[in-house]
Amino acid sequence: MMNKTRQDTLIESVLGAIGNTPLVELSRLTRGLEGRILAKLEYLNPGFSKKDRIALQMIEEAEADGRLKPGQTVVELTSGNTGTGLSIVCAVKGYPFVAVMSKGNSTERARMMKALGAEVVLIDQLPESKPGQVSGGDLALVEEAAQRIAKEREAFRADQFHLESSSRGHYLHTAPEILRQADGKIDAFCDFVGTGSSFGGCAAAFKEYDPNILCYIVEPAEASILAGKPVTNPNHRIQGGGYSMTDLPLIKKELIDGYLQVTDEEAMEVTRRLAKEEGIFAGFSSGTNVAAAIQLLKTTCKDKTIVVLLSDSGLKYLSTDLWL
Ligand SMILES: Cc1ncc(COP(=O)(O)O)c(C=O)c1O
Repeated sequence: MMNKTRQDTLIESVLGAIGNTPLVELSRLTRGLEGRILAKLEYLNPGFSKKDRIALQMIEEAEADGRLKPGQTVVELTSGNTGTGLSIVCAVKGYPFVAVMSKGNSTERARMMKALGAEVVLIDQLPESKPGQVSGGDLALVEEAAQRIAKEREAFRADQFHLESSSRGHYLHTAPEILRQADGKIDAFCDFVGTGSSFGGCAAAFKEYDPNILCYIVEPAEASILAGKPVTNPNHRIQGGGYSMTDLPLIKKELIDGYLQVTDEEAMEVTRRLAKEEGIFAGFSSGTNVAAAIQLLKTTCKDKTIVVLLSDSGLKYLSTDLWL
């Protein structure tokens, strides 16, 4: 009998296609540097982002413990990716889903969620904010609306900022996959933080495997609040995070070995290089993670193996000037 891999198996629904993404060595981008960067291609998930994983985990844990009842509405605040993941999971499982999103996020995201059957509620940005630059203040408005809608509809709130199940998607799957794929040989992990769910889940699993694996938080250069720096400009280009929020319960302080800062320009340059040199078409935050990993290879992690997540697809930014 032939040995079947997961890809050779017929799956019951698209939910079975979430996770088990490839891990790729970025050997072209690191030419001339000592050490390696390994990139987890999370944009190959069905919703084109890592957030499919947490959507599935949050919904399945809530089903299992009775917080989510058959046919109940699900509501969540999203920068688009979690909403897309939830749209997919809710479509397959038969839950109505309401995505609450800032108008500052790219339009592709709202269109995709609608196509997947979600109701999308778009919230105006603060007067001083710009499209494509969602600040913590903008997000606070979205949170207010999400809470109101969840209450009105007696909905289950798939709260990605607070539910431990959000991080568990990465703790149980993303990080163990990486350790298997890299044969356990990684020295450091750096991650651009939004909710902190990916950092929290992956760092916990890596430290459990080997406490010497260094785990770094990545932030926008002018909004590095977790690193204790003053926020000089909350309106950066890196969608999906860098909200200048200090209260991120999914991040446990003891998992953090350091902080790295990436400018908008560096993020865009590396995102474009990923496409041109590696053939990897990913979004702003993916380039941000790789830019931070390059900084590490040039400084404290010379000669080491650094792992990063490539969080979403470049297709989600076709309406922006990332691709001109
Ligand atoms: C494109 C992108 N990158 C990074 C992040 C941050 O990930 P996390 O919320 O796990 O910290 C998000 C979160 O929405 C995202 O959408």
